[in-house]
Parts: sequence; C-alpha cells; structure tokens
Amino acid sequence: MWARWPMFLFVCSSIVIGECKIINNVRHEVRKFPEDFLFGTATASYQVEGAWDKDGKTENIWDHVTLTNPCVVKDCSNGDIADDSYHQYKRDVEMMRELGLDFYRFSLSWTRILPTSFPDKINEAGVQYYNNLIDEMLKYNIKPMITLFHWDLPQKLQEMGGWTNPEIVNWFADYARIAFELFGDRVTDWITINEPHQVCYHGYGDDSLAPLLNIKGVADYLCAKNLLLAHAKAYHIYDKEFRSLNGGKIFIALSAQWYDAEYEEFVDAAKEANDFTWAIYSHPIFSETGDFPPVLKEYVAQKSAEQGFYRSRLPEFTEEEIDYVRGTSDYFGLNHYLTYYVYRNESVVNYYESPSFEEDMGVITYFYDEWKIGESNYTKFVPWGFYKLLTRIREDYGNPPVIITENGFATRGGLNDEDRITYYRHYISAMLDAMEEGSDVRAYTAWSLMDNFEWLAGYTERFGLYQVDYESPERTRTPRKSAFVYKQILRTRELDMHYEPDTDVMTIDEGH
Ligand SMILES: *[C@@H]1O[C@H](CO)[C@@H](O)[C@H](O)[C@H]1NC(C)=O
Ligand SMILES: *[C@@H]1O[C@H](CO)[C@@H](O)[C@H](O)[C@H]1NC(C)=O
Repeated sequence: MWARWPMFLFVCSSIVIGECKIINNVRHEVRKFPEDFLFGTATASYQVEGAWDKDGKTENIWDHVTLTNPCVVKDCSNGDIADDSYHQYKRDVEMMRELGLDFYRFSLSWTRILPTSFPDKINEAGVQYYNNLIDEMLKYNIKPMITLFHWDLPQKLQEMGGWTNPEIVNWFADYARIAFELFGDRVTDWITINEPHQVCYHGYGDDSLAPLLNIKGVADYLCAKNLLLAHAKAYHIYDKEFRSLNGGKIFIALSAQWYDAEYEEFVDAAKEANDFTWAIYSHPIFSETGDFPPVLKEYVAQKSAEQGFYRSRLPEFTEEEIDYVRGTSDYFGLNHYLTYYVYRNESVVNYYESPSFEEDMGVITYFYDEWKIGESNYTKFVPWGFYKLLTRIREDYGNPPVIITENGFATRGGLNDEDRITYYRHYISAMLDAMEEGSDVRAYTAWSLMDNFEWLAGYTERFGLYQVDYESPERTRTPRKSAFVYKQILRTRELDMHYEPDTDVMTIDEGH
C-alpha cells in the first residue's frame, strides 16, 4: 500500500515559520496515546438526520435554501432524507460500538425541538428522538457530546436577521437552556456553536453557505459579535445553573485552517491571516485581554474610514461585554482541515471586492499541487500545518486544554480509501508531535462517522469512515478500510504507521 504514497512528504524540521523541508523518510515507530485520551467521531443534524418535516419539525435555513434554490447545491441534492439517522439511529450506535468509540459528537436540530424557534412549545417527538439516541449510546458506555448549533438556524429567526440581530443572544440562550434542561442529566459535554467563521463569513459575508446572504464586510462582522455574546450567554447559564448536575463541560468549536509564510517577508501577513480567520473568535475567549485581535480592529477601522463609513464596520465590544465573553470555554474545540501559504504585496490592491473581509485581511493564499492527495480538492495533505496550529494555540493562550472536534478527509467514494488512511495517520501523528512538546490535547474526533450531506457540495464529497448507499431506502452503511484502521488505533491506543487490516468484516469487541 505504501506504493500509493507520495514519494516525498513535507515534514517540519522546526517550529520556526518557513523552515519546512522536504525529506524522503517517514518516522516509523509505535506511538502511545496518554491513558485518558479519548476518541470519537462527529456528525451534524442537517447532514444526517433527514425527516426534515416529520413529527412536528419546522423549517430551518438549510431546508429553506434547498427548497427554494435546489441547484445552489452542486448535485441539486438536499438533506430531506440524508442518512435517515432519524430512523436509523440504532445502526448509528451499532457503528460506534464496532469502532469502539469513547464518545460521539452530534448536533441538535433547533426546529425539531422548538418548532416555533422559541421555548413556548416543545416538540415531544423531537425530544424523544434525541432521548432515544442518547440512551442507546449510554447503554454501551459511549459518551454523548452535543453541539447545540451546527448551522441549521430556524428560518423564522433568519427572517428576523438571524445572527445579525442582537436579539439572537437571547434566542440562542433560551434554546440552550431548554437543551440543558432536557438532556443535562445525562450529557456532560456541550459544544455551543460549531465553526463561527463558517457561519458568519460563508453564510453572511459570502454566499458559500446558507443563508447565502453575501453582505460583505458588514453582515459577517455583526454576526461575529452577536455569535460570541450568544455563546457566552449559553456558557454562563450552564456554568451557573447546570454544571452542578454532573460537573459537565461546555465549550465552543472553532474552525482554524493554518496560514503560513513560505518567505520570511510574509510572516506578518500569515500571522494576520490566522488572526482574521480564527483568532477573531479565539482571542475574545482565550486571550488574557479578551476582545477582537488588535490588528483586526485597526485594519477594519482604517479601511472603513477610507471607504467613507462613519464608524468601523467591525462592531465594538463594551468593557462589560469583553469581560462577559473572556474565559467562556472549558476547552479549545478545534476543527482543522487545511493549510495555505499567503503573500501580501502590491498584487493584493483591488484584488478583492470592496468592502469585504478579504480586503480587510489583505492577503492572497496559494498552495502546492504536492499538497493534494486523492481525487477531491476539498482537503489537502499538510500535516505540519496542524502541528504548527496546535503550537500557536499552546503559545498564544497559555496551553488551554484542546479537543480536536473535527479532522478528516474527503474522497469521491469507494471502500478502499487509502488516501484517507494516509491523511488520518499523518494528522494524528502531527498532533502527537505537538503533544510531545506540551500541547494539552485531550481528545480527537474524526469527521465523519459516515458520508453525509456536505452542504453546497451535496453528496459529491464523502467524508465517512463508513460509506452510505444513497440508492438504498435504509441508507445502508458499510465500513471503509479507514474504519478498520481507526478501530485499530482506538483498540490499541497507539499509532502504528505499519498497521495493515487483514479483515473486512466489522465486529463489535467485547465490552462495547
Ligand atoms: C507578489 O508576490 C507574488 C508571490 O511571491 C508574486 O507572484 C507577484 O508577482 C508579486 N506581485 C507584485 C506586484 O510584486
Ligand atoms: C480541483 O483543482 C484544480 C486546480 O488545482 C482545478 O483545475 C479543478 O477544476 C478542481 N476540481 C474540482 C472538482 O473542483
């Protein structure tokens, strides 16, 4: 199987930016995980549940976009049925047992629980579905990790401005409180919001995710502020009123891709690309000072003034709000997939629409063809970027405990997914490199348990350890080769770069 590997692998020789060298050997050794390290997989409600209008569930923004504008999705598909997890949850839990997972990360559908969007009416059938799923998992000792919000905002709230309306802070907090009341007796791991950058930039400042608003350099920043306040409010409610139930944890899951400089002169540009795309959310929560990163405030204020705005397009936090948001995450939840190189010179002038987030950031990104493995362009193979990202998080924020809430690789389908195996092994190895140097990583989550509706890419991008047959009414799930490899890592609690599965029959180990 190693014949399919690229001949040369990029490996970082040191943590100094720009010192990555190509070397033609791979470290071969068995690497042990810490005793209490946990492994899981993740999915999200709209991507797997289906049953979009069943048993009292009402419309969310993804239902709305796919109903009103079907071919905005690459294959003109939607999540109406998706993986039918609403009906197949027992099979989902069986797969968790086959893999030997410690935990499973899934999200709640707001409109399945609260059909009016508000706490005035609780949909019993929706609550029952999540109770069934949670109880089935607990029967086999698999910890539920719940994401409250993974992008499927109630359409009604969108029509009132969604994340640009400051009232969302209360709307989200009310929904969070209901979820804590319903499931807090059995659930100890809560994620407030998944990938703020995707929600705010791709959904509000661009048209690459619902609600496809595309109000550049304005709506994305309003969203960012309200989202952080909503997250903080949910955190404080849990901390004060629910944590004592069972000592649970609550945190946010940030998506952070790594931006690096190939040349010394672009080191600042790369640092600022990281500030704009993810530290915009981590600095307010994890830094000692709180608030948006200083460089972001400076650049957006300066550009806004030049453009004739009377105030910065980036809204300000009050001192009180800065304190309210700071320190509101028990872990640094990290979703990571990609690395880019950046440059910044005269070429960036007039390169982007004005105003826009990209123009404010002022960098141009590129990558190398060698970073691509497999057929899909969705993910690239740059394990050293993951190592550097974990290192920066450790250094910037006083080594917070980290949970890798997503990491994974897309293919175009097929059970023999060598490229995914290569990706997982090397990214997990890069994570272990950072841990050896002190990064406090507590858990790793593979995205995804199974193929699912990949947003505007529909079913053309497959991220699953299990393949899903979308022709079959029950959405039959079949383990890919990577599922056997992941299972082996979980079973042995070590990363053996040489492991070769000798069976394609998935069984449940004793005790699972
Ligand atoms: C900016 O840098 C890029 C990458 O090094 C280069 O290709 C481009 O020609 C430069 N543009 C200018 C105007 O110097
Ligand atoms: C993948 O990227 C290459 C350039 O790197 C581009 O030519 C090709 O069209 C892309 N394929 C898809 C399916 O987006």
